[in-house]
Amino acid sequence: METNRWPAARRAVHGAARAVGWIGVALALALGACGGSDDGTARLSAEAALGEKMFHDVSLSASGRQSCASCHDARFGHGSPNGLAAQLGGPGLTLQGARVAPSIRYLATAPAFHFDAEGTPTGGLFWDGRAASLADQAKGPLLNPVEMANASAAEVVAKLARADYAAEFQRLYGLDILQKPDEAFERIAQALARYQKEDPAFQPFSSKYDAVLRRQASLTPQEERGLALFKDEKKGNCAACHPADKAADGSHPLFTDFTYDNLGVPRNPELGHNAHPAFFDLGLCARQGGDLAARTELCGAFKVPSLRNVALRQALFHNGHFKNLTDALRFYVQRDTHPEKWYPRRADGSIAVFNDLPPALHGNVNTAEVPYDRKPGDEPALTEAEIQDVIAFLKTLTDGWKR
Ligand code: HEC
Ligand code: HEC
Repeated sequence: METNRWPAARRAVHGAARAVGWIGVALALALGACGGSDDGTARLSAEAALGEKMFHDVSLSASGRQSCASCHDARFGHGSPNGLAAQLGGPGLTLQGARVAPSIRYLATAPAFHFDAEGTPTGGLFWDGRAASLADQAKGPLLNPVEMANASAAEVVAKLARADYAAEFQRLYGLDILQKPDEAFERIAQALARYQKEDPAFQPFSSKYDAVLRRQASLTPQEERGLALFKDEKKGNCAACHPADKAADGSHPLFTDFTYDNLGVPRNPELGHNAHPAFFDLGLCARQGGDLAARTELCGAFKVPSLRNVALRQALFHNGHFKNLTDALRFYVQRDTHPEKWYPRRADGSIAVFNDLPPALHGNVNTAEVPYDRKPGDEPALTEAEIQDVIAFLKTLTDGWKR
């Protein structure tokens, strides 16, 4: 089937992902992050130190009560601090966003969005890859009406001019920088990006699993079983999209291959926009700018997120539908064997599978790959006990592990 061509082709790309890993280690070494120094002693450049202040500065928002750190909380792997499908923002902190606030760790080496040699969409920031770099990305939330909600770049710069680090900003970028709002806004975005790239807290590689890879710890028997299931191509097959091995150069895995897939995640009624039956969040093909609008086979595809720190998340997948790992993993392996558990029934009793996509696009859902390659009545790829083993392993990916 034409619409399934792209998901089937996507697995052939691990060579490319490894090449990215190589750049990754070069960068990690340059940043001194590879050794896992998460003690916060590393010195930040002046630009990154300024970015750190902005990242935590609620005065840069229209509400005066929201900063980047409100939605990307260091205590939760720099991800959302609660189980909401989308955070509230805007001038009165009453407006609901459209998607889950992801963890923003381990993004320093994410490549810009591109199609690789096999035509697989790869890289980019946001769930739909629409931002090419961390600097490009940082402008989004400052101006997004349901987030920090500034009306313009000039408004952000005017707020910054009142901050206690305004003089530092001028020292770094020129005494007249605040009179040049467009340039100043670019500098703000760059400083936010530098902070995220330089501060080892965003890429600490300090999980138990990192210690295991450094031969400084060993997995428990249950974690070991979970890892084996995670990698086994006939069982979890998770590593096909969430790579778990060190790259050839020794860099530690990021648990994402930076590609995209369509999992058919159930519609989440918590999201206000879903009250309109004709609304669908179509991900890649519908992203801002409209560059992929003609690529209907990409509709419903979202970025493969890193699974590092995933055990700290209280809302999973792009729409936050699942609130814990047990349900998320049951969905993975029982989506096709027990669809009635995951999708609502229509008035005629039939099950509305893939109900977060218009029927014409159901062929885009990946139904060819383990673990979601089954039919009703088949055995799920993982048993309940095996799901718990995989979760035990996923818990070893939480940063800040101490023996
Ligand atoms: C109101 C909550 C909120 C605030 C405030 C916020 N973000 Fe986000 N952030 C999100 C959401 C939601 C997404 C995903 C949006 C999407 O994919 O469309 C996101 C995505 C990101 C990403 C991309 C992650 C990835 O995996 O591609 C980065 C980086 C990021 N935010 C950094 C920031 C920075 C820097 C700030 C402050 C200038 C900030 N965020 C403020 C909610 C927020
Ligand atoms: C074919 C690619 C693919 C395979 C195989 C795969 N995943 Fe994923 N995974 C994704 C994509 C894409 C998403 C995001 C989907 C979305 O939000 O719509 C995701 C999201 C997740 C999330 C939610 C993370 C978050 O931050 O919200 C978890 C947990 C997860 N995967 C675990 C697993 C496990 C465990 C396995 C093996 C049983 C697995 N995945 C197999 C592609 C894959």
